[in-house]
Parts: sequence; C-alpha cells; structure tokens
Amino acid sequence: MKTFSIASVTAAALSGALFATSVIADLPPIVIKGSHFFYENGTEFFIRGVAYQQDVSSNGSTSTDGTFTDPLADEAGCTRDVPLLTELGTNVIRVYAINASLDHSFCMNLLQENGIYLLQDLSNPSSSINRNSPEWNTELFADYAAVVDAMANYTNVLGFFAGNEVSNEANNTDASAYVKAAVRDMKAYIKTKDYRTIGVGYATNDDASIRTNLAHYFNCGDSADAIDFWGYNIYSWCGDSSYTESGYDQRTLEFANYSVPAFFAEYGCNTVQPRQFTEVQAIYGENMTDVWSGGIVYMYFQEANDYGLVSVSGTTASKLPDFTALSKQLASATPSSTASADYTVTNTVAQACPATGSSWAAASALPPIANVDVCSCMVSSLSCVANSGLSGNETSTLFSTVCGLDSSACDGITPNATTGIYGAYSMCSASQKLSFAFNQYYSNQEQASTACDFNGNANIQSSSESTACKSMLSAAGTAGTGTVTNIPTDAAAAASSTSSSTSSSSSKKSAAGSVVIPRLDMTLLQLGAYIFVTGLAGAGMILL
Ligand SMILES: *[C@@H]1O[C@H](CO)[C@@H](O)[C@H](O)[C@H]1NC(C)=O
Ligand SMILES: *[C@@H]1O[C@H](CO)[C@@H](O)[C@H](O)[C@H]1NC(C)=O
Ligand SMILES: *[C@@H]1O[C@H](CO)[C@@H](O)[C@H](O)[C@H]1NC(C)=O
Ligand SMILES: *[C@@H]1O[C@H](CO)[C@@H](O)[C@H](O)[C@H]1NC(C)=O
Ligand SMILES: *[C@@H]1O[C@H](CO)[C@@H](O)[C@H](O)[C@H]1NC(C)=O
Ligand SMILES: *[C@@H]1O[C@H](CO)[C@@H](O)[C@H](O)[C@H]1NC(C)=O
Ligand SMILES: *[C@@H]1O[C@H](CO)[C@@H](O)[C@H](O)[C@H]1NC(C)=O
Ligand SMILES: *[C@@H]1O[C@H](CO)[C@@H](O)[C@H](O)[C@H]1NC(C)=O
Ligand SMILES: *[C@@H]1O[C@H](CO)[C@@H](O)[C@H](O)[C@H]1NC(C)=O
Repeated sequence: MKTFSIASVTAAALSGALFATSVIADLPPIVIKGSHFFYENGTEFFIRGVAYQQDVSSNGSTSTDGTFTDPLADEAGCTRDVPLLTELGTNVIRVYAINASLDHSFCMNLLQENGIYLLQDLSNPSSSINRNSPEWNTELFADYAAVVDAMANYTNVLGFFAGNEVSNEANNTDASAYVKAAVRDMKAYIKTKDYRTIGVGYATNDDASIRTNLAHYFNCGDSADAIDFWGYNIYSWCGDSSYTESGYDQRTLEFANYSVPAFFAEYGCNTVQPRQFTEVQAIYGENMTDVWSGGIVYMYFQEANDYGLVSVSGTTASKLPDFTALSKQLASATPSSTASADYTVTNTVAQACPATGSSWAAASALPPIANVDVCSCMVSSLSCVANSGLSGNETSTLFSTVCGLDSSACDGITPNATTGIYGAYSMCSASQKLSFAFNQYYSNQEQASTACDFNGNANIQSSSESTACKSMLSAAGTAGTGTVTNIPTDAAAAASSTSSSTSSSSSKKSAAGSVVIPRLDMTLLQLGAYIFVTGLAGAGMILL
C-alpha cells in the first residue's frame, strides 16, 4: 500500500499549473487501501470501465495462429475511439493482449489526457497458461515481464491481470496453482525492478461450482503470493433484472469480508437486446459500493458475439443503441464514496486456502519461482545433456523414452499441483528439462558409457558451476523454491562438500539426489524469494 504524500501531490499540482499549456500532466496513480481503490489525493476511485480489444476471445482461448491486434499500438484506432470512450464516461479500459515490443506512447498519452486508466492482461493468444496442460515457466515469465516493462512507466496503469478465466470448471482447478505462481512472480518482479507499486490481480469466470474456492484460493496464504485485486466476469444480470434475481445480492455477501478490492472485470449480459444496462444503478448504488469498486462493460467493439457498443469501419466508429443506453446509465450513477482518511480497514484477514478434494484440485503450495538463472545453472552442472536443436516433437518423444525407462529420472521436472509436489526444474524450458532427465538417468546408470546416448540425441559435457550456481541449485534442490526436488547429482555432491568451488565433473552419486519436502515452510519460502530478488551473487553470499 502506497502511502499518501502531501508533498508529491503539491509538486504535481504545481508542475501542472506551471506547464499546463505545454505539458500534459500524468494522471495520479491509483493506490489500494484495504478493499478499495483511491486517487493519491484520498478520493475513492470506482472503475467505470470498458473492455477494449478486437478479436481476442475473453475466455482465454487461443486463436489458431496466435495473432492479434494490439489496440494500444494503433494510433488511428485510439484517435477514433478515445473521444467516444470519454463521452461514455469511461475511466478505465481493459486490454486483453498487447505486443510488448511495439510503441504504446501515443495511445497511453491520449488516455492520460482523457483521464483514462488501463487494466492490462499479461498473457496473449500465443503466450498464456493453458488450462488443460498448465505450466508456469521461464518463457511465460519473460513474456509477462515484457508487458510489465512496456507499461510500468505510465502512471495511468491501474493494474495487471495475470490470468483470465483460466480455471473455468471443476476439472481444471489445478491450473490455478500455476496462475497464482504467475501472480507471485510478477509481483516480485515489479518490486525487483523498483517500479511504482502496481497491483497484480486475476479475472475469474462465474462458475457456481468453483467460484468460492477460486476467490478464496487467490486471496489465501502469504500476501506476497496473493492477488492484489479480484476481477469478476459476471453475466447474471440480463434484461431488466434485479439485485436479488441476478444473484448480485449473494455475490455481494460473499465478498463482504474480502481483503483486497473486488470489481466486475466484465459485465453486460446480452441475451436481452438492446441492452439497457439497468445493473449500472446497482453496481454504483448503496447496496454494492462498500464491497465492489465498479465494473468493466464487455465490450467496446461490435463483433460476431454481439457485445459491441460501437461498430467500427476504418477511421469511423458508429454508436450502437447499447452505447446510448450505457452512456445514460453511467451519467446517472453517482456512487457515494469514502475518503481514504475516513476509511478504517476492517477486512484484514485473508481467506483460508481451500482444501484439496473432489471439488478443488490446487494445493496451497505453489509451483517454483520461474527463475531462468536456476535453469541455466542446472544445465551447466550436468554431465549428460540433450543435443541442441531438437524439435518439439523429438523432445516430447525423448521425454517419454527417458521417463519410461526410469521414472525417478523425471522427478525433478514433473509437477503436480494437486499434491503440491513440483519438480524444482519443472519451470525450465523443454530442452533444459530433457537434459535434466537424461543426466539423472545417466547418473542412475552409474554413468555407463551407453547411458548418455538416446539414439544420438544426448551428449556428454564437462560440467561447470560457479560457487553462486552451486548455492542456488542447492537451495532450489532442497526446497528453496519448489516443494520437491531433485538436485542434479553432481551439483548436490558439490554443494554438500564444504570446500569445493571448482567444477565437479566426477561421478559422485549422491543420496541427496531426491529430497521430498511435502510443504514449504516460511523460512525457505522467504529464502527462495530473497534469492530471486538478489540474484546469483546475493544467493552465493547468503548461503555460504
Ligand atoms: C482527487 O483527484 C480526482 C482526480 O483528479 C478528482 O476528481 C477529485 O476531485 C480529487 N479530490 C480532492 C479531494 O481533491
Ligand atoms: C471461447 O470463446 C470462443 C470465441 O468466442 C468460443 O468459440 C469458444 O467456444 C470459447 N471457449 C470456451 C472454453 O468457453
Ligand atoms: C510483435 O511485434 C513484432 C514487431 O512488429 C512482430 O515481429 C511480432 O510478430 C509481434 N508479435 C506478435 C505475437 O504478434
Ligand atoms: C474438462 O471437461 C471438459 C468437458 O466438460 C473437457 O472438454 C475438458 O477436456 C476437460 N478438461 C480436463 C483437464 O480434463
Ligand atoms: C521507464 O523509465 C525509466 C526511467 O526514466 C527509463 O529508464 C526506461 O527506459 C523507461 N521504460 C520504458 C519502457 O519507457
Ligand atoms: C438494494 O437492495 C434492496 C434489497 O434487496 C433492493 O430492493 C433494491 O432494489 C437494491 N437497489 C438497487 C439499486 O439495486
Ligand atoms: C468471509 O465470509 C464467508 C461467508 O460469507 C466465510 O466463508 C469466510 O470464512 C469469511 N472469511 C473471513 C476471512 O472471515
Ligand atoms: C508433431 O506432432 C504433432 C502431434 O502429434 C503432429 O500433428 C505434427 O505433424 C508433428 N510435427 C512434425 C514436424 O512431425
Ligand atoms: C497428481 O497426483 C495425484 C495423486 O497421486 C494424481 O491422482 C493426479 O492424477 C496427479 N495429477 C496430475 C496432473 O498429474
């Protein structure tokens, strides 16, 4: 929680006054206190949002070719649309996917000038957590971090979503462990990079069988691992419904004690057309504003799914009846707000983590930190590695081969979110994981000359490790990050020896190669986070 600073507000106000004619003042960042959002000046902030993206499914499904249009890199599109968003009374847009390598300054500045904040999803159609075979790995980490890097400097970024509707029914709740790991790692990344405090949240679907467990899971446990805000995609108010008929009353009761801000990350059922948006008066009315911080209408663009407020063609945008209806409703919505100084936080307790069982499959122990340095240290410590340049199909065939020959060789790379037992290197790239498994097999075969071959797809290397690497692997291998682990055998031997700081390619087979620790304890978790934050050099120092 960022503290309220009179000095910085005064300075901003001053510079705004001095340069008002030539410089556009950045919008004041939105800060979180307890379960609510505030401007830095202490006025409460309610989201009057619109989802703003063409042709990306809101349910996280991927398009076949992974392409998408980045709306914040489209100057003509922003020029066309921002005036209409402003006319609607929009103060937040939600964008589902950007291309981090493009220039967003034009659109972001136009949004700033018009008082519009951004909620940005970190995934995109070619880089996201797949609910049917979930992973949180170093490649996703790099892609999500690139979005953070592209956006963190803009003061009108309200927050990031680390996932949208990933677990969406009872049979894929295990995927939530990986999404929560993404939340944890992106929060730590924002801190490591010394960016302004920017919240990381999650946007959920509204499946009755899992919604309570989902909301509790992402809020439970250590707050460093938990969401900073909760977005609810909810379509239960259709036509001229009511607070009770829509179930909004029940949802509001469920979130009455939630410890972080909650809001509707998508709303606007379209089964009754044209939409009248009568729910707007409920969302910004006295029944809900103590619990909810507004909502985001799905969506700006008219497409095949028929949720549009406008239809666009080239540089023109035409208002649809839904635009006019929403505009009227928002204009008459006047939420009564509480000033930050008058708000005493009462929801100070996180929810309990749901127990795993028939209706919930994600353990409270999270997957390991997706630390790319741990992976490269791991590979350099190995004696037997996979050839470089193997295709994806070759790699997966070779996984089947080596794990089939010796399943223990794959312990360090096989995650299970339900048991909460993850290989320490399950977050590494496919080729790094294959190398790990080959090396374990080779080692379990007492380094027999034929055991590092796999039809010519493996080769012997001379392992090398810096002192810092040895320490990092030792920490990872004995629960610095994941809950279970396998240290590459040479590294384990080296790390357990007190004097060695040179490379170890001798054939010591360590009994410590497979250590099972069922749960993270706090100290080790903090140590893992510390290693992540401080990097290799710090890790070496702290452990030696
Ligand atoms: C705080 O800032 C917001 C946005 O600029 C403004 O609407 C509001 O009136 C301000 N509140 C106070 C108390 O100055
Ligand atoms: C996601 O949305 C797409 C496009 O609207 C639809 O074809 C697909 O069936 C949806 N998938 C799920 C899992 O809801
Ligand atoms: C992102 O933009 C770059 C530069 O135009 C392009 O090469 C790349 O393919 C884009 N990525 C995606 C996922 O569209
Ligand atoms: C979950 O069930 C749906 C059908 O309702 C199925 O399409 C999907 O593949 C299942 N997912 C998993 C992970 O079993
Ligand atoms: C963000 O601001 C910092 C400090 O001014 C600058 O070094 C960095 O390049 C900026 N990043 C982007 C993506 O604009
Ligand atoms: C607030 O709740 C009461 C009691 O359920 C209900 O009668 C009223 O219509 C609600 N107000 C709005 C604006 O939905
Ligand atoms: C919040 O209330 C719900 C019931 O509405 C309850 O299940 C949950 O335990 C409560 N959580 C806290 C942290 O008090
Ligand atoms: C890789 O495997 C997939 C699925 O088994 C198959 O459809 C594809 O053709 C294979 N690609 C190559 C290059 O063999
Ligand atoms: C995780 O382990 C449990 C218990 O051994 C097993 O039933 C389940 O199928 C495993 N899940 C995955 C995704 O492998």
